[in-house]
Amino acid sequence: MDIVLLLIVAASGLCAVSSTAGRQYHFIYDLKNMTEAQSYCREHYTDLATTDNMDDVNTLNNMADLSQMVYSEYSHRAWIGLYNDVDSWRWSLSDRSFYGLGETEFRKWYPGRPGNVYDRPCTIINTDGLWYDYNCKKQYKSVCMDVRGPNVTFVPNNNLMTWTEAQSYCREHHTDLATVRNMAENQKVSELVPSGQDIWIGLYRDPWKWSDGSTSSFRYWRPMEPNGPNELCVAADFSHSGRWEDWNCDQKRAFICYRQLTTKQVIKLSVLKDSSLDLNDPAVVEQVSKQIKQRLKDQGVNEDIKLSWRKQSDGKIFHKDEKETEKRKKREL
Ligand SMILES: *[C@@H]1O[C@H](CO)[C@@H](O)[C@H](O)[C@H]1NC(C)=O
Repeated sequence: MDIVLLLIVAASGLCAVSSTAGRQYHFIYDLKNMTEAQSYCREHYTDLATTDNMDDVNTLNNMADLSQMVYSEYSHRAWIGLYNDVDSWRWSLSDRSFYGLGETEFRKWYPGRPGNVYDRPCTIINTDGLWYDYNCKKQYKSVCMDVRGPNVTFVPNNNLMTWTEAQSYCREHHTDLATVRNMAENQKVSELVPSGQDIWIGLYRDPWKWSDGSTSSFRYWRPMEPNGPNELCVAADFSHSGRWEDWNCDQKRAFICYRQLTTKQVIKLSVLKDSSLDLNDPAVVEQVSKQIKQRLKDQGVNEDIKLSWRKQSDGKIFHKDEKETEKRKKREL
């Protein structure tokens, strides 16, 4: 199929493609709590706003109409899409086949835990076999496990490590950080906890994350933020340059949605082809698609590219250009 490649490089039309795909923000000044705001944005736009960088922050600062964000207290705030996901607890070992019915959901929290606190997305266990949600950056001993067929052996790791370091250590030297699937295993693990101490187990959850699933790590907190227990949602404060604060998700506020813009462009493609190639063969069309996408990428089009072919009334994509064929014949004569 190398022949097609060479000929498409010579084809005209591709250079006309330009991309303006991106995010278009919309301030909504109706007051809603975070969940209502999220539903509204998903219904009418793409989602609650994600901000990737200072350009996005500046765009929002320029758009914000402070006179429409006057509340009885804490005016000028609007929800963005960042929140702390306290419903995402799961085990470091995710292989479903390791778990029997209901065993992924086994929990032995200390009363009142987990406590809906933004910086406690990891779990320690004490000598009584009770669990606490905790700050993953603290250093503790941990318990790993070796899984061999149906047999599970718990192995203490007495090095002081953050939760993430302990996870890497257990994955390197054993199977993973310990999973606790039932009371019997909880008993075994609690027996490994040194007296008066707490140690990491494999239960964790997502900390701050974007409503639209974006992986952007950009953060623009006000100084001293985030700071509150039970403040799991994020509002930008437009009386302080659009910097962020954590708030109780039930507060009613203005909010910011975005719409993902896509550009649609129709390109007419002419291909000079070797007479042995059938351009209506699906395998050839597939190859041509790949090459066009590659060329667009080479030209710096970074967005997701979806390519579809427009079929003519006879169901075929490519047509022989009779005029061109005539011209060429004349030239050759
Ligand atoms: C699991 O443990 C049993 C009993 O100790 C042993 O006979 C068996 O070989 C072990 N299986 C694996 C896969 O290690």
